Amino acid sequence: MSQTAKAYTLAPDLDKPEKQPEPTLRGDGVTADRYIDADYAKQEWRKVWMRTWNLAGMAYHVKEPGEYITVDLGHESIIVVCGDDNEVRAFYNSCPHRGTRITSAEEGFAQKFSCPYHGWEFDKMGVTSYVPNEEDYPQGGPCGKKRLKQIQCRILFGMVWINMDESAESLESFLGEEIVTELDSYHIEDMIRVLNITADSPCNWKIITDNFNEAYHVQVLHPGLIPYIEANYKACQFDLMDTGHNRGWFPSHNPSILHTEEHIGEHLAAIMRQWDLNPDDFKANENRPLIRKAIQSSKRELGQSKGYNHYQEYADYQFTDYVIYNIFPNTVITVGPDGAQLLRPRPHPSGDPQRCLFDHWWMVHKIEGQTETPSPAGGPDLPVEDAEHEVVMYGEKSLGTTADEDLSIAKMQQEGLSSAGFQQFYMPHQERRVQHFHEVLNDYMAKE
Ligand code: FES
Ligand SMILES: [Fe+2]
Repeated sequence: MSQTAKAYTLAPDLDKPEKQPEPTLRGDGVTADRYIDADYAKQEWRKVWMRTWNLAGMAYHVKEPGEYITVDLGHESIIVVCGDDNEVRAFYNSCPHRGTRITSAEEGFAQKFSCPYHGWEFDKMGVTSYVPNEEDYPQGGPCGKKRLKQIQCRILFGMVWINMDESAESLESFLGEEIVTELDSYHIEDMIRVLNITADSPCNWKIITDNFNEAYHVQVLHPGLIPYIEANYKACQFDLMDTGHNRGWFPSHNPSILHTEEHIGEHLAAIMRQWDLNPDDFKANENRPLIRKAIQSSKRELGQSKGYNHYQEYADYQFTDYVIYNIFPNTVITVGPDGAQLLRPRPHPSGDPQRCLFDHWWMVHKIEGQTETPSPAGGPDLPVEDAEHEVVMYGEKSLGTTADEDLSIAKMQQEGLSSAGFQQFYMPHQERRVQHFHEVLNDYMAKE
């Protein structure tokens, strides 16, 4: 964890991320086929999933030579392993002998990988190092010659990114300078993942990315957020980046303009008291911006003395606000003052376009003296330690109040989209991140 003061990445008095120029959208119609059609999903696999950068896991799981993780993306499984040279490499989890998966473990330590079928062995560079009966290959022994097929792999923001396209642009250029600079300033590489849950969910992956590309639904689906997060479009900022990604800025730690009561909700009041502010000195409906500003000043002044070392180089807005980065196609990262949240749908391993795997990660900074941290999933606080991965079926277990609210509607939307009565989306201006996402998707799908 960073202890010494670093240079500010963003101007310290910045009140919000810099507004990006608005691109002109074409107004492509969004119809149901992309959510339900198996042929569309097959093409999407080839044209989108095999060509874009995706998250494989946390870099701290592959820090030492031999440490490895695997990640499933659609029907593929990818092994990420740290080599003896400390380079992290990624390989398809498929044996060059007759295709068997080399491992079904999600993480582990291996001096070498051994295929469970006929015992071929591979070193950490993916090269075959031993096969039984090597003299019996008239075409030449596979050792040193056959290897696990490697794919692109990069570590950024303390996370492992992979791309199956050998000729893909660099991760940094894919993300663009704004996203790289801003996400970097949160130092996710110093965080620990305290929640890691996946729900096998009854909807297409895009139903979930659409949901995180708009906040129009918040007032209806998540009224519980209104006392402390601004989600009304008039007071937020939405950016469509020319890289194809989107960003949403939500001023927070102040009641929304939709919160008309004078009373400050208990969640926000508790935060104010934690930062030596008296909630009784403020009125929720009259002192909105003042509350947010007061919390920012107090955190800047007292942060370090309370062990919040990561506050040292924050811009003003980072002390209070939530910013959502909708990285095409499916990496949704929301950053707030004390943590980063990943809400990510992955295409389902079965190939069924009406199902997906929905991941929820929560990464936090370690604060001295804090052994537990509030869960974004609701329920009891979480221990500040690396979380075991939990996989559940949709509905079996809560994914968190807000995520549950989103998922409950995802199933209903999937069902409604299959109706002969549905024609195409009809969206307000504030949903233009959804429109942008679909136009970027169309651009990928139009390329051979
Ligand atoms: S399939 Fe892997 S050793 Fe035979
Ligand atoms: Fe939502």
